[in-house]
This record gives sequence, C-alpha cells and structure tokens, in this order.
Amino acid sequence: MNRRSRMLEALGVSTEWTLRGAQPSAEQVDDVAVVEPPIEAEALAAAVAAEPAPGRVEMPPAEIGIPAAGGGAETAIPRAQRIAAFGWTELEAAVSNCTSCKLCERRTNTVFGVGDRQADWMLIGEAPGENEDKQGEPFVGQAGKLLDSMLRAVGLSRQPGEGKGVFIANVLKCRPPGNRDPEPDEVAMCDPYLKRQIALVKPRIIVVLGRVAAQNLLQTQTPVSKLRGKVHEVEGVPVVVTYHPAYLLRTLTDKARAWEDLCLARKVYAEHGGQ
Ligand code: URA
Repeated sequence: MNRRSRMLEALGVSTEWTLRGAQPSAEQVDDVAVVEPPIEAEALAAAVAAEPAPGRVEMPPAEIGIPAAGGGAETAIPRAQRIAAFGWTELEAAVSNCTSCKLCERRTNTVFGVGDRQADWMLIGEAPGENEDKQGEPFVGQAGKLLDSMLRAVGLSRQPGEGKGVFIANVLKCRPPGNRDPEPDEVAMCDPYLKRQIALVKPRIIVVLGRVAAQNLLQTQTPVSKLRGKVHEVEGVPVVVTYHPAYLLRTLTDKARAWEDLCLARKVYAEHGGQ
C-alpha cells in the first residue's frame, strides 16, 4: 500500500471515494456520480481537514504533509498555506470533513457558505446557530430573515436571479455549543477557510455582521459602535461593519444605524467600481 493510500485509509475516506480507473461497487455508484473532483485535490483537502489543532495531534505532521513539487523529498507545507491554494471543490471538501477543532464532535452539518461565488458583495457573520447547524446554510433562522430583508432593501439577494448576488459566510463553519462565542483556537483553525473564500470570491466590498465577526476579522477589541461608520480593510478588500441581525431583532432602535451602514457599504462599493 503506498503512502497516499495509507493516509486515506487512516483518515477513513478510502471507502467514500473511488480512485480513477477503479470499478465502483454498486452502492458507490451514486456517490461517484456526484463526487467527481480529481482524487489529488480531494486527498489534499481531506488531509488538511483532518489536521488537528495543536494539542489534538493524533498523527505526526510529516504524515499529512504533501510531496514537495518536483522533488522526491516530502515536506510538511503549513496547513494555512495548503488551504490558500485550494479551489472551491477542495475547499468545500476540506470544510465538510474538517476535524481540526473540537466543534466537529457536536456538529450536525458544517456551514460552508451560500450564494454567488463571484459576487461583488460578501457578508460575513459569526458562526452557525441551531437552525444553520441543522440545515447546513448560514442565516436561516429569524436573524437570517431579517438579513434577507436588509439585503433586499439594497437590491441584493442570496437567491439567484432575485437581485445582485451576495456570498454569505461565517467566521466559524461549525456551531459552538449553546451558541457561545467562538474560542481563539476555533477561529484560528477556521480562519484559513474564510480567507480562501474571500480570495476566491474576490468581492469588491465585505460587510461584517456583529461584534464577534468584526473583532476576529479585524483583530481588534474595539466595540461595533466604534467600528461602524468607517471603512476597514481585510485581504485588500474594503470592509464595512454593522450590527448583527440577531442583535437588531432585540434592539430595534439600532436598525436605522444598520441602514446607514448599508448605505456606506453601497457608497464604498461604487467607489471601488461597483454598479
Ligand atoms: N448568526 C451568524 O452569525 N451566522 C449564522 O449563520 C447564523 C446566525
């Protein structure tokens, strides 16, 4: 058995994917018809997904490294660097198989993100809640309904064909138990996924929803009330911060401020070539 086969077996994925050229069993046929990405990309994604956070090491890093380009010697390329080279298929596979932090133990579904993958607008929230964990889609509860109306008010929609497209993602892809705040190690393991999503979408404007997302993304302790009304930057993309829709459901008086924030975002978007 070669090294890659050993790694796939160790990760428990060898029965889910069929190597090119191999005959799938009858039960595998449906899976194979749907999951067709090249095995190299899938294997890389699975290796990254299964890479444990420091303190959860179950396998030496060298075992999950990838071969150095062109050379026989094998190098453990840092996890974030490998994720930064993923396309959508590998990134999605890596997220859905991720066991890099403890949140994987209690999740029902990972929540990758939704919407137009070439959108000019990207929205970033905190983490999946109960409904999102069940459905595998961000912002599907009451807060999501409010978010959809806010988007509609500025001509945006997550639904194809209903307005200008948006891509919606969260800082964390798995639900923290009881909706507690994300812990630093969880954010650290998920951050490369979000950064790669930003790089692949290439939005002209990012709107960050709420304190937790804003403070983690902007690496600050400043409250939302002081972050909003200004233009920040992440990965070279202008960022506008606004209140979290769940907060707005409880604090109706701040809805007017959220509207101002969306207007600011629209202005910045136009200044960056958006129409
Ligand atoms: N709150 C968030 O920040 N994200 C979701 O997906 C749902 C609720």
